[in-house]
Amino acid sequence: MTDRTETASEIKADLETITSLAKRRGFVFPSAEIYGGFEATYDYGPLGVELRRNIRDLWWRSMVHQRQDVVGIEAAIVTNPRVWEASGHVEVFHDPMVDCLKCQARLRADHIEDNTCPNCGTVGQFTEPRNFNMMLRTNIGPVESSESAAYLRPETAQGMFVNFENVQQTTRRRLPFGIAQIGKSFRNEITVKQFIFRTREFEQMEMEYFCHPDESLDWHAYWKKERLRFHYSLGIRPQHLRLRDHTPEELSHYSKATADIEVHYPWGWGELEGIAHRGDFDLTQHSKFSGKTLTYFDPETNEHVVPHVVEPALGLDRTMLTLMMDAYDEETLEGGETRTVLRFAPHVAPVAVAILPLSRNEKLVPTARQVWEQLGPHFRTQYDDAQSIGRRYRRQDEIGTPLCVTVDFDTLDDQAVTIRDRDTMQQERVPLTGLVTALTTRLEALRPAVPSHDEIAV
Ligand code: GAP
Repeated sequence: MTDRTETASEIKADLETITSLAKRRGFVFPSAEIYGGFEATYDYGPLGVELRRNIRDLWWRSMVHQRQDVVGIEAAIVTNPRVWEASGHVEVFHDPMVDCLKCQARLRADHIEDNTCPNCGTVGQFTEPRNFNMMLRTNIGPVESSESAAYLRPETAQGMFVNFENVQQTTRRRLPFGIAQIGKSFRNEITVKQFIFRTREFEQMEMEYFCHPDESLDWHAYWKKERLRFHYSLGIRPQHLRLRDHTPEELSHYSKATADIEVHYPWGWGELEGIAHRGDFDLTQHSKFSGKTLTYFDPETNEHVVPHVVEPALGLDRTMLTLMMDAYDEETLEGGETRTVLRFAPHVAPVAVAILPLSRNEKLVPTARQVWEQLGPHFRTQYDDAQSIGRRYRRQDEIGTPLCVTVDFDTLDDQAVTIRDRDTMQQERVPLTGLVTALTTRLEALRPAVPSHDEIAV
């Protein structure tokens, strides 16, 4: 049995195991699989969308609803191409690429180790590095020409910068304040890898925090801690997470300081979230390119300032993969049988409570249906009456359902049901009248403890 309090910092589940579980149980499917799929493109299945919805909602709640200084927007995916000229993406958003002369694989120059092609093993036979723009291009209207060219956004962030003035004026915000957005982004990534870790279409959850330049480094330090707290709150084990400050050579073209929240994946430490100090780069650029002055007038000091920006930017798909890998566990039971468990935190789990009638016996079904109807308004439920009860428990373990409610023949007499706990596998008889409270109490007790802001050392 894997001990959840283990000190080892590396996630145990390998990618193959997670990919196979994700497909088998309906979290993630290869996109358009009946046509042979489409490279590194995925469709999310019934459990995958529930998991994603939970992550999105938790992010939105902690970033927008539970704060007085952040509001949300939804900007267009395909917008005026001048935005990408101003942001620097047309010019700078590229990686130096080389082609292997033997197998023609196109590779990122900075990802080649020991001068060896990772595709065919040939040593030292590459073209000169060339820059490659990673934005996905499309055309608007009936004529394909350079005038009709437009781009699918490579980040959601620019939507917040171009709406800075609209939001500030309509909400009458004073600095500091943030604008948040969740949505799809697209990059023509050359190296797509590790399942949903790096794909060409992905979803981002980003927030631009506008503040006075003198306070921006303090806010950067503040957000580093807050973002770590968020990942703890999702239930990711602290020993699998670390904060790493970028070296000056690593910084993006716009960034004055950046820290990554990294996860210890089986292939090494990798970025889960970036927390960048973008300075005044974006507002200044959009002022220049649009001709509109994008400043903030401080009524107390009577001065105009260009706010500085701190940006926590998180990928939804990557968070989903991290949660699945972190939650994965295999446990050997007394009889020698192995059970697979996703130990999701209850507020993250696609299904919080499964209702399992012992059988499809017609005497049981109406009561089991009533239980399902009673619980539906309170929890994310699933009604499952296929196969033996043992198999159904295993299935719920494998999709990470924290609690199962079993309706049996005794229920008809004693008006009570059995609650079965995913982690301890213990069962307890509970009266139907107090069922919602009993389940709520148990789910709450399973939520991870989150250290306060001051308790976090960075
Ligand atoms: N606005 C800043 C920005 O976009 P980024 O580090 O390029 O910064 C932020 O992206 C986050 O978005 C990453 O930490 C990662 O979680 C996610 N992300 C970026 N590119 C991705 C890709 N190709 N596939 C999946 N997720 C990606």
